[in-house]
Amino acid sequence: MAARPIKISAVDLFCGVGGLSYGLLKAGIHVAAGVDVDDSCDYPFRANIDAPFHRRDVREITADELAAMWPGKSVRVLAGCAPCQPFSSYRRGVDTSQEAQWPLVDEMLRLIAGTLPEIVTMENVPRIVSTAIFRKFVVGLRELGYSVDHSSCFCPAYGVPQRRRRMVLVASLLGPIAVPKGTVPSSEYVTVRQRIEGLTPVEHGQAAADDPLHKCRSLSDTNLKRIRQSKPGGTWEQWDEELRAPCHRKASGSTFRNVYARMAWDEPAPTITTLAYNYGAGRFGHPEQDRALTLREAAILQSFPEEYEFVAPDQPVQFAPLGRLIGNAVPPRLAEAVGTAIVDHVADHTKQKRSRPRAIVQQLPLPAV
Ligand SMILES: C[S@@+](CC[C@H](N)C(=O)[O-])C[C@H]1O[C@@H](n2cnc3c(N)ncnc32)[C@H](O)[C@@H]1O
Repeated sequence: MAARPIKISAVDLFCGVGGLSYGLLKAGIHVAAGVDVDDSCDYPFRANIDAPFHRRDVREITADELAAMWPGKSVRVLAGCAPCQPFSSYRRGVDTSQEAQWPLVDEMLRLIAGTLPEIVTMENVPRIVSTAIFRKFVVGLRELGYSVDHSSCFCPAYGVPQRRRRMVLVASLLGPIAVPKGTVPSSEYVTVRQRIEGLTPVEHGQAAADDPLHKCRSLSDTNLKRIRQSKPGGTWEQWDEELRAPCHRKASGSTFRNVYARMAWDEPAPTITTLAYNYGAGRFGHPEQDRALTLREAAILQSFPEEYEFVAPDQPVQFAPLGRLIGNAVPPRLAEAVGTAIVDHVADHTKQKRSRPRAIVQQLPLPAV
């Protein structure tokens, strides 16, 4: 009789709109629940992931509460992407620097220590690896018996049409585990054209009739003149002198070349930030149409499927909150690669585990931090 496949169940802390969960689902991992303090994640998480959403502050969740979110008889995954952006909407008047949010990584470690899920995965900005809080997290995992690996992942190599780089960590109690390598060669990176060229054309300040998320901000007269003079992949240096902004006149660095700019068609997009709907905030001009990206285009360039639901049908589509949720998400294609590596790892190590006592598994050599 064929062995029954092992059920792998994830709880997603700081789940947002579900980018990480969606990728895990695509890899064949059951998502048991998502936790996030932001109410606006409730609808998209439930609509796309089809799992319970808990509007809770992770700092207030106990290990027993978390343990009850996983179903019995499954290999448990704790996935978490503690915020890497300031959240000024909840922390008005308080220090909202990124560093102020990183102690939430400690909260994740507290919950891991209290529940010992077989697998842990975390995603964050690459520079977190040089912080004390991250080193403490890795040391804490190893002391608990986890094999740990982490790597800075370049998203185009995972099939994401975007030059985003993200730190991915995986940890396992079952045996040595590794962050999957990106396998897409640079000649085959998915491009902006491949993903958004076929969408309905939209005027600035308008939305497509068939998709309220395919909506873009209006441009001022000056910005309209600027984008009309912008070439795909070009810079403001190609504009008439009088259209240049004061920051351009002073600027020398390359960062300034990438504002008020159009994307190139035949390359991956630049990093989709929380402001990707704003022409002035980066290289977020559409390659051809005289406007910034729509929210739908931003989501697609994050590798969300075209039909992903971000807002309930009776709710307004607002740029700032939705731009934040989309820009903060883990690209689902990257998450799917991580999920597939977890599925393969569990398949390999649960077979071996029957003949190998756990104490020995825990003594396997650990990779350097
Ligand atoms: C980087 S985003 C997560 C993105 C998500 N993993 C995805 O792929 O879509 C971080 C999330 O942490 C949430 N958050 C911030 N502080 C929190 C807290 N104390 N408890 C629970 N969630 C929190 C934010 O609301 C935000 O949705």
